[in-house]
Amino acid sequence: MINLIDDDDIARALRSDVRTGLTASPKSLPPKWFYDARGSELFEEITRLPEYYPTRTERAVLTEAAPAIARITEAKTLVELGSGSSEKTRLLLDAMLGRGTLGSFVPLDVSSSFLAESVARLQADYPGLTVTGVAGDFARHLGHLPDGDNRVIAFLGGTIGNLAPAERAAFLASVRQTLHPGEWLLLGADLVKDPAVLVPAYDDAAGVTAAFNRNVLQVVNRELGADFDPAAFAHVALWDPDREWIEMRLRAGAAQRVRIPALDLTVEFAAGEEMRTEISAKFRRAGLRDELGVAGFELSHWWTDPREWFGVMLAQAR
Ligand code: SAH
Ligand code: AVI
Repeated sequence: MINLIDDDDIARALRSDVRTGLTASPKSLPPKWFYDARGSELFEEITRLPEYYPTRTERAVLTEAAPAIARITEAKTLVELGSGSSEKTRLLLDAMLGRGTLGSFVPLDVSSSFLAESVARLQADYPGLTVTGVAGDFARHLGHLPDGDNRVIAFLGGTIGNLAPAERAAFLASVRQTLHPGEWLLLGADLVKDPAVLVPAYDDAAGVTAAFNRNVLQVVNRELGADFDPAAFAHVALWDPDREWIEMRLRAGAAQRVRIPALDLTVEFAAGEEMRTEISAKFRRAGLRDELGVAGFELSHWWTDPREWFGVMLAQAR
């Protein structure tokens, strides 16, 4: 494992994000802070929910596409950003190892203890492969990725949708900067569909997504000594048809005051006030092709499921 996360750095970043987000109007918190060990476990639970179609749909698309991805890219190194459990990525590892090209897998994630467990499982299951976990931030640390040739950078699960449009453009440009011409980005993106399918995926009957959403308050409590009462906030998921994204929010049930000692800050919430905790943008093929083009990629291949719910695209650095 390589650790690019300096504890002081991360504490500073959390303090800065919480101060900025909770003193703004409307209030917000960045989704990166969902993923402590508990948040990563809750996300894994979400992927198994009947309402949460993205993971199983992307898995089906990758099952079909992996042999072609391995053949087209002849990848020697596979890098995965925001890798989580890397469970679907095994389809790519199997196909790339099957072709005899792949020597190295580099999963990068900000959730370091969860990453360490995933890496241990991968090392046990793929003894012939060099697996190097990188605990890092994909918005800051791409410059530290190993150089090479025939690299594929995978960004799966639709996590691209959790970046705000300006962050997304900056992220795609920095991925492009990391690659040499001819190398590859493999991008999984959730597609625009009926809100009757989308909204329940973010507001499941068992309340797992609600627990995931509220977990960010536990992170702020633990790390900054705050006294958020997570039960005093309702989980909200809504579809914004103009911006074509799902927005998750936490709504204060009653007026309340929260102390955040590490910031020497007191924050007031009005009854019914909503704080944004995540956007999850949904995409269209043409829009993604254009965004990739602006970042310096050529869309090379596109795979989707029969209902066109989830897209996996292979883009080549120009
Ligand atoms: N790729 C996996 C996991 C998706 S969940 C899948 O498809 O199922 C999103 C993952 O991105 C989490 O593991 C989270 O810890 C990670 N993540 C979120 N923000 C990040 C950041 N800024 N840098 C690195 N990893 C991040
Ligand atoms: C990681 N990411 C793609 C998930 C999503 O669907 O936006 C995070 C998530 N939020 C609520 N449920 C799942």
